[in-house]
Amino acid sequence: MARPLFEQRRASSEHTNDRGLAEEDALLTGEHTQKFEPPQSKWKKIREVGLFVWALLATTIVIILAVVVQKERTTSAPSPVPDGKRNLIFMVSDGMGPTSLSLTRSFKQYEQAEPFDNTLMLDGHLIGQSRTRSSSSLITDSAAGATAFSCGHKSYNGAISMLPDHQPCGTVLEAAKRAGYMTGLVVTTRITDATPACFAAHVNMRSEEDRIAEQMVGDYPLGRVVDLMLGGGRCHFLPNSTEGSCRDDDRDIIAYAKEQGFDYVDSRSGFDGLKEGTAVNLPLLGLFARTDIPYEIDRRNEADIYPSLDEMARTAMKALSDATRDSDKGFFLMIEGSRIDHAGHANDPAAQVHEVLAYDKAFTSVLEFLEKDDTEGVMVSTSDHETGGLATARQLHSTYPEYLWYPGVLSNTSHSAERVTHNYHSFLSGQPKKPAIESWVRENVKKGLGIDDAADSEIKSLVEKPELAPYTFADMVSRRSQIGWSTHGHSAADVNIFASSRKAAAPLVGNHENTEVGDFLRRYLDVDVEAITKELQAKGTSFVNALGQAVDWMGAPPSQDKEHGWEDHLDHYQHDFKKHKRCEVCGV
Ligand SMILES: *[C@@H]1O[C@H](CO)[C@@H](O)[C@H](O)[C@H]1NC(C)=O
Ligand SMILES: *[C@@H]1O[C@H](CO)[C@@H](O)[C@H](O)[C@H]1NC(C)=O
Ligand SMILES: [Zn+2]
Repeated sequence: MARPLFEQRRASSEHTNDRGLAEEDALLTGEHTQKFEPPQSKWKKIREVGLFVWALLATTIVIILAVVVQKERTTSAPSPVPDGKRNLIFMVSDGMGPTSLSLTRSFKQYEQAEPFDNTLMLDGHLIGQSRTRSSSSLITDSAAGATAFSCGHKSYNGAISMLPDHQPCGTVLEAAKRAGYMTGLVVTTRITDATPACFAAHVNMRSEEDRIAEQMVGDYPLGRVVDLMLGGGRCHFLPNSTEGSCRDDDRDIIAYAKEQGFDYVDSRSGFDGLKEGTAVNLPLLGLFARTDIPYEIDRRNEADIYPSLDEMARTAMKALSDATRDSDKGFFLMIEGSRIDHAGHANDPAAQVHEVLAYDKAFTSVLEFLEKDDTEGVMVSTSDHETGGLATARQLHSTYPEYLWYPGVLSNTSHSAERVTHNYHSFLSGQPKKPAIESWVRENVKKGLGIDDAADSEIKSLVEKPELAPYTFADMVSRRSQIGWSTHGHSAADVNIFASSRKAAAPLVGNHENTEVGDFLRRYLDVDVEAITKELQAKGTSFVNALGQAVDWMGAPPSQDKEHGWEDHLDHYQHDFKKHKRCEVCGV
């Protein structure tokens, strides 16, 4: 319908400038140009004017329709919220960008000798992308990223469900609990780490994990809001007098949790006792590692010690589903593939592909659960940001590169760089002599990383700079597989959004701000998050904790310390490229 105008305009551009301008003018004013007009019959003129008026009308109608439709789409954002009982499972693939999928897909196809169209389960459920920047930086951290999901607001890097003005913001989990839903958190990192913390705690700085542990089991103004927690991070719950503690004080948070009614499990046998979720008493606290649960690439050989993400996810879904059987409200569960991010920070492609495969497996189990369960439900999966600036390409030499990367190298790698480093540092603690160190290194890059062509320079670096071993081991694997990384930190890449149903997650189809993911969560559950924000803010910063002490419960606001990156990072270029600062101990 819009064609006539377009074609007339195009035709005009083929004539001289004057002629073009004159015609353009005519199009706008409706007056026909006189200059180069050939002699015409009256009828021809009338017909031409008629055609022109028709074209103008048709174009106007098209424009008006387009404006109306666009307005509808941007203002009303229809959320197909079901009327009755419903479950919401929110999955977070921490640090997984689009390239992680390409990397893992090709690795899987290589390992299993599959054709190119045998994709990941995730691939079939892509619905959109999320823009991830925070209020303080174009590159977010996990805390600001998860605050966008939990509160639906942008905040500064490091914020655990706190607003830029250091006031707490209510979370979708808190509001869900208040509305009568059951709630759960499943992670492979510390349960006190930024992503899970943002759903059930409020602190000014993500490093306050002792405080976060207290809040997550209910020692904060809202009381207990989480019914089920499975993951790692035991050390923040143990008093500092106990072996394996990393708390600064002597509070026993596990004892406190038990007083609040929590069942507590801390081992594989304890996990097995949950019988895939059929033998769970809520509330439940399951902490299966002192800090993080090992990377899947290492854990798969230690399944007698640590449960997998998929096992924990299935246990949680079964337990929460059973517990809400007779309720008119369902559950809200957050499941995080936490350590995709760590493999990105470590620039370790072999660890990463196994993390993503573990996530894809849990994702598949969630789809199966939703398919079978009687209660209506939806799963939405996204990342808080990309980590590592990952590229499935790497130019190793100055000559023009071939187009390829080698998944077979990752296939030969049996351990994470983190694990080989851990073993190396343990070996060094026995103070071996230099030749023994060298032969240990040669043997273990072969055994752990599948590398039998280590260069002398690589061995020398490992022997002389053992503190850089995590990076050196990972770099040896990356170079050989021709996988590239642009940073050990995060990047500003847009990340994918996946869902169990495009229809149920319709408001998230397309490209969205990460806060819109948060908006979707609260709207789907139909819960009042802003009421929780008002309540928290009304209660103020002082809180009398379980010990009877009045505490500044959200901790001190972060200092404007450049080294810690709390300040606004927008548009302050300071010739950073000239600085060659290097960390002394680049631990991951
Ligand atoms: C353990 O915590 C208490 C305070 O709760 C503190 O006085 C003590 O110094 C801490 N001990 C260690 C070894 O950090
Ligand atoms: C993987 O390891 C095997 C056995 O050591 C070796 O023959 C093969 O070349 C390796 N593949 C790659 C891609 O490094
Ligand atoms: Zn993150």
